[in-house]
Order: sequence, then C-alpha cells, then structure tokens
Amino acid sequence: MDVRIAVLVSGTGSNLQALLDDPQTAPRIALVVSSKADAPALDRARSGDVRAIVLDPGHYDGREAHDRALRTILEDEGIDVVLNAGYMRILTPVVVGAFEHRWLNIHPSLLPAFPGAHPVRDALEWGAKATGVTIHFVDEQVDHGPIVMQECVPVLPDDDEASLHARIQEVEHRLYPEAARLLAEGRLKVEGRRVHILDEGAGA
Ligand code: GRF
Repeated sequence: MDVRIAVLVSGTGSNLQALLDDPQTAPRIALVVSSKADAPALDRARSGDVRAIVLDPGHYDGREAHDRALRTILEDEGIDVVLNAGYMRILTPVVVGAFEHRWLNIHPSLLPAFPGAHPVRDALEWGAKATGVTIHFVDEQVDHGPIVMQECVPVLPDDDEASLHARIQEVEHRLYPEAARLLAEGRLKVEGRRVHILDEGAGA
C-alpha cells in the first residue's frame, strides 16, 4: 500500500493547499489535524475530500496527554509520514519519537538563523539581507532537526513582514510538495545531521 501522510496545521493552510495541489502528494494525504477549530486550513482539507479533525490542546491535561492522543490518532489511521504545515505547537518525544525521520517541518528562515514563532519579523529587525525557507526533520528540539532543503530569499529594501513572507511562501509552496514526495518515496537518507537525497528508484 502507498504511504499515508498526515498534515498538521493551525492556520491559513496555504502550504497544505500546495500539497493538495500536487498530483503525486495529494492522493497520499489521508488526514489533516488542526490545533485550532477555526483554522481556514480545515476548509481546504474538506474541499480536498481529506478527513480533517481538530485536536484542541486546551482539552488535554498537559502536553504529554495531548501528544499521547495525537500519537494514538496517527497510529490508528496507519499514518507513515507527518508534515507540519504552519502547525504552531511544540511536540514532546511522546509523539515525535514514534515517527523518527518520518516527520517534516517547514520554517520561513534559513535555520539555524531565526528559529521560533516570528522568523520573518526577526530577519527584518536584524537587518538581514537574505533569509529563506528551511525544510527539516522534526526532532525533540524546536526548529532543530536535520535539514532536507533550504532556499534563499533576498530581503528587499522596501520589504515589510507581509511582503517578505509572501515571497518566502512562493518558495515554500514549490519546495514542500517536492520534499514530501522524496520522503514518501524513501529517498531521504539521514546520517547524523546530514540528509542525502537518493536518486529516483534508489529509495527504500
Ligand atoms: C509558513 O510560512 C510556514 O513556514 C510556517 O508557518 C507558515 C504557515 O503558513 N511554519 P500556511 O498556514 O501554510 O499558509
């Protein structure tokens, strides 16, 4: 059977949309989990005929209880690969440990520069001349795991947070479906912090 992907969201879901618009990734998306009941991403999932559920952290007694519930859902759904797409929650080893090297995050900066919740604003305030996109494996630390792909985006003199984020997102929407395909095809080989991209047909 083909790989089953879960996408985790909290907000607008433009990256989820890019994944749903990719003909190779879309049929593999089996589940969307949102941490927010009013996330517009949920409508995108439903329009794409993908099962969408809300897992509100406020309903759980602590981080680990929430993460145990998330892990149970992912396992019950037979999920092989997890993709964070604007998912605004820090996860514990309770769930992350069960999907080692099978879980990606997309972050709008060139990590390790500007980790955290406001990377676009932080890059502007720092006066950076370039920032970009990082796709990396999720591990037990925030914005930390082995890097799969990065692409640079220049900061223009007149940029504000919205204009810079819009150009970063154009890159995100192109890169994330590609990274998802590579992971689904078993073509990402992790060696320590290094990720090797295997040729087509060479995957596990
Ligand atoms: C993206 O820029 C992503 O890198 C970051 O959050 C944003 C989510 O955007 N983690 P969207 O919900 O996919 O439109």
